[in-house]
Amino acid sequence: MIKFAENVFVFDHPLIKHKISILRDKRTGTNEFRSIVEELGMLMGYEALSDLPIKNVEIETPIVKCNAPMLDGRKLAIVPILRAGLGMVSGLTALVPSAKIGHIGMYRDEETLMPHEYFCKLPNPIEERVILVVDPMLATGGSATDAINLVKSRGGRKIKFLSIIGCPTGINKLHEMHPDIQIYVGTVDEKLNEKGYIVPGLGDAGDRIFGTK
Ligand code: PRP
Ligand code: URA
Repeated sequence: MIKFAENVFVFDHPLIKHKISILRDKRTGTNEFRSIVEELGMLMGYEALSDLPIKNVEIETPIVKCNAPMLDGRKLAIVPILRAGLGMVSGLTALVPSAKIGHIGMYRDEETLMPHEYFCKLPNPIEERVILVVDPMLATGGSATDAINLVKSRGGRKIKFLSIIGCPTGINKLHEMHPDIQIYVGTVDEKLNEKGYIVPGLGDAGDRIFGTK
């Protein structure tokens, strides 16, 4: 991973680059798109969770008793931003099956590009959990910033944000509003177009995952 700024990390792995390029291709159909978003959730989540707390527990191997490191309790919450964030969840729960899942519903007004919240249900209590908020796209940064506001207002403190494609506008906004959280992005694209889409990007992530238009 490359450190883009304090608390901002960009992935540098050839597998991640390759899979993002397949997502960008407009010929990639819904099935393949969905399974690659899931794979990227797992590959990127593996790195983003490399500092999860562990503790030693006593187990007995076929040979002897020993102390062995295991994840410290049921401490992870995965929080997708609906809809597109849902596509990354199964890859992450494959890594940490004990994770609790929260949901934040946000949609962007197509004219103003302002995010609107329509749903929020988080695991309770949330204070002691590592909370991984996920959304494939970090465009203006409005949705991610508001989602993290919500998580913090419910008591969340140890927060990470994981996204497949970001751009300078969104990364800078999220980092400025929430300098205390770790931001992980698969790649940093050039800019936003006049409709608020990431360029070159991959189009509308929710539509491509769910086959809607
Ligand atoms: C997309 C995407 C992010 C948001 C990013 O969702 O999944 O949530 O846009 O844009 P922003 O950084 O400018 O806020 P969208 O609003 O299209 O909703 P959907 O997932 O339900 O299609
Ligand atoms: N949301 C998307 O799904 N794609 C973009 O390029 C920007 C926001």
